[in-house]
Amino acid sequence: MVNSPPARFDPFSGPPRLHGARRVGCRPGTEVIHPIAVSGERPLTWQVTGLPAGLTVDDEGIIRGIAPADPGSIAIGVRVSNERGEIDETVELCLGDQLALTPPMGWNSWNVYGTDVTATVVMAMADAMVETGMRDLGYSYINIDDHWHAEGRGDDRRPRANPVTFPDGIEAVAEHVHRLGLKLGLYSDAAPLTCGGCFGGLGHEEIDAQTYAAWGVDLLKYDYCHAPPQRAVAIERYGAMSRALASSGRSIVFSVCEWGMRRPWRWAEDLGASYWRTTPDIFDTFSWGPLGVRGLARVNIGLDAHAGPGHWNDPDMLLVGNRGQGQSTGVLRTPKKKRTIWHFRGISETQIQTHLSLWSMMAAPLLASHDLAHSTEFDLAMLLNPEILAINQDPLGVQGHKHGSRPGLWILAKPLTGGATAVSASNVSRVPRKVTVRFSDFGMAAAPQVTDAWTL
Ligand code: GLA
Repeated sequence: MVNSPPARFDPFSGPPRLHGARRVGCRPGTEVIHPIAVSGERPLTWQVTGLPAGLTVDDEGIIRGIAPADPGSIAIGVRVSNERGEIDETVELCLGDQLALTPPMGWNSWNVYGTDVTATVVMAMADAMVETGMRDLGYSYINIDDHWHAEGRGDDRRPRANPVTFPDGIEAVAEHVHRLGLKLGLYSDAAPLTCGGCFGGLGHEEIDAQTYAAWGVDLLKYDYCHAPPQRAVAIERYGAMSRALASSGRSIVFSVCEWGMRRPWRWAEDLGASYWRTTPDIFDTFSWGPLGVRGLARVNIGLDAHAGPGHWNDPDMLLVGNRGQGQSTGVLRTPKKKRTIWHFRGISETQIQTHLSLWSMMAAPLLASHDLAHSTEFDLAMLLNPEILAINQDPLGVQGHKHGSRPGLWILAKPLTGGATAVSASNVSRVPRKVTVRFSDFGMAAAPQVTDAWTL
C-alpha cells in the first residue's frame, strides 16, 4: 500500500463484482436479512441457487426469510450478470452460534451525533448507505448508540424509546433499515445507567433481549459505565446479557464495550460476544498522546492472537469524514464533561488512509461514524476501496501480525485465503521514512506477484 492520491471506485459501473462477507453467520431457525454485496453497472440480473426452503433473494440481492432449524453450512451459488459481464461465486450461510464470521461493517451514530441521535437521522444514514453504494461494498449495520431512550422504562418494565426523537419507536426504524436489506444495531449498558445517563440493562436482561428481538434489532453494543471495576462482575453481567440474546429467537450480534480494561479478549468470546472494544474511545486526532488512531492501533496490534472468525478485536470506530466535527470525537472534556480541554481538528487525508489500512489489516470492525449523506469523494475513495475491504473481510479471518520493531514504523502481514499475504508498512512517526520490505521476511518467494491495494 502506498500513499498516492487514492482513486475512487464506482460501485455502479463496470462488470459485477462480489464484495463483503463470503461467510454469513446466523442462528438456526431465526430471521435472515442479508444483502449479498455486488457492485457493477445497473441493472444487475441475479440467479441464486442452493437456497434452502424458507429463504428467498430479491432482485437487489437481499436474502430474506427464516433460516433452516438445523446447524450446518449451506453453499449459495450467486450468479450475477449485467451488460459488462458475469460472476459466478459462492456465499456460505453458516448456521450456528457464531454470527460475525467476518468483521462487521456499518455505521454508528455516536461520534458525530452523540446525544442528538434521532429516527430521522438514522433512517437517512441507512438511505445514504444504499445511495452511496456502501451496501454494495459490504456495509450492512446501522447502529444506534446511546440516547435513543425514553426517560424511563414503561410500567411493564420494558425499554422504551424517546417518544420525541423516535416517535414511532425503534421498530419503525428497524422496518425502514430492513426494507433496504440492512441491519439495525442498538446500545445499552451493563449497569442501571448508560454512559449518557439513560436507563441501562442490568437486571432486565431477559425482558430487554426479548423486546429488542421483537423490535427487529440485529446487534447490541453493551457498554460498562456505572459498573464495578472487577473482571468477575463484568463477566457475570456480560454473560447474563449474552445468554438472554442467544435465547431471544433472533440473531443478535453482541458487542462488548468495556474499553479493554478487563482484558475482554480473554473472556468475551467464551461468553458469545462477536467483538469487544480493546481501547478507550477514539478521538479525531492521529497522535494526541495515546488518544487517537495511532495510540489505539498500538494497543490493538498486540492482540492479534485473540481475533478470528466470529470474534474480533475492536479498536473503535472509523474517523473518515468526521473532520473534527463530531459531537464526542471532536472535543476532549474533563471527566464530568464540564470543561473543554481540547478541540481536535481532525486527521489528514494521509492519516485517514493509514487509519483505513491499519483497521483493514487488523481485521477490525469497520464502522464509519460521520454523516454518510455528506461523504466527500475522498471519503468514498477511502470507504469503498474493494481491495482494502477484501483484506478486512477475508474469510480466513486472521488479524495482521506485526513484523520487526522499528520505532515509528509498523509492518503488518495478514495471511489471506488462497495463500496470498497482505503486507502494510505504516509510518506513524512525524518524519518521512523510506521503507524496504523484504518478501522473504514473510516466507514469500523473492519476487512474488505484487499488487498495490490502494491502486484500483
Ligand atoms: C462510551 C463508549 C462510546 C459511546 C458512549 C455513549 O464512552 O465507549 O463508544 O458508546 O459511551 O455514551
